[in-house]
Amino acid sequence: MWPYPKIVAHRGGGTLAPENTLAGLRAGLAYGFHAVEFDVMLSRDGIGMVVHDPEFGRTVDGQGSVAQTDAIDLSNMDAGSWFGPAFRDEPVPFYTQFIDYCKAQRIWMNVEIKPADGVEAATGAWVARITRDNYAAELASGDPASYPLLSSFSYAALAAARDTAPELPRGYLLDTIPADWQEQARQLAVVAIHTNHKHLNAELAAQIKAAGYGLFCYTVNTPERAREILAWGVDGFCTDRIDLIGPAFA
Ligand code: G3P
Ligand code: MG
Repeated sequence: MWPYPKIVAHRGGGTLAPENTLAGLRAGLAYGFHAVEFDVMLSRDGIGMVVHDPEFGRTVDGQGSVAQTDAIDLSNMDAGSWFGPAFRDEPVPFYTQFIDYCKAQRIWMNVEIKPADGVEAATGAWVARITRDNYAAELASGDPASYPLLSSFSYAALAAARDTAPELPRGYLLDTIPADWQEQARQLAVVAIHTNHKHLNAELAAQIKAAGYGLFCYTVNTPERAREILAWGVDGFCTDRIDLIGPAFA
């Protein structure tokens, strides 16, 4: 059974606000979303920051990289102007700011561990430790919908998260499903497979569900496709089009 929300706002507020910002979380809430996916990467000084690209230039104004910049400096960079002048100086958030906001607003989090090259295990361990420490009461409650689901494309990051905080559930992100997916999923002790809906079909979906895993898709942006994959047994998905696909979509 899938104990988590079915429809999740991708990167904060999808296409309605600059991705991976607090403005994105506010946009999601404005559309009724209490479920969000976002990306966490470590700064030079080893602090988890909410950002997708390892290099600046697309969403964060400037040159350089997240892994070569201290957290305090990242938190003063402009991650909003690319989206529109109204978002100028919207900063790169600390992961802990996202935790605080989501707890206060009762937003469920799918935290994607997005390590820069070479720091996969460190990133997975950091995210797992901080998440566990911030959700101790929720973890003790035994209600999985009250604490986050971690996910990553990185096997090493998920292995480190598993070793650091085995009690936090994990999803394995796979762009395409490899032949040995079940062996990897077993080793990582994940609860779910998160996959690109473009490479999924009804047969694969049925295999994953029959093996007892949750099945989550990214990033589904039309209601027609959403209906199709849900009919295959997909448990949930994230969307950029929070304006077209609402939190109660069925
Ligand atoms: O977690 C699902 C999805 O966010 C994975 O791809 O590149 O948008 O982080 P990406
Ligand atoms: Mg992501």
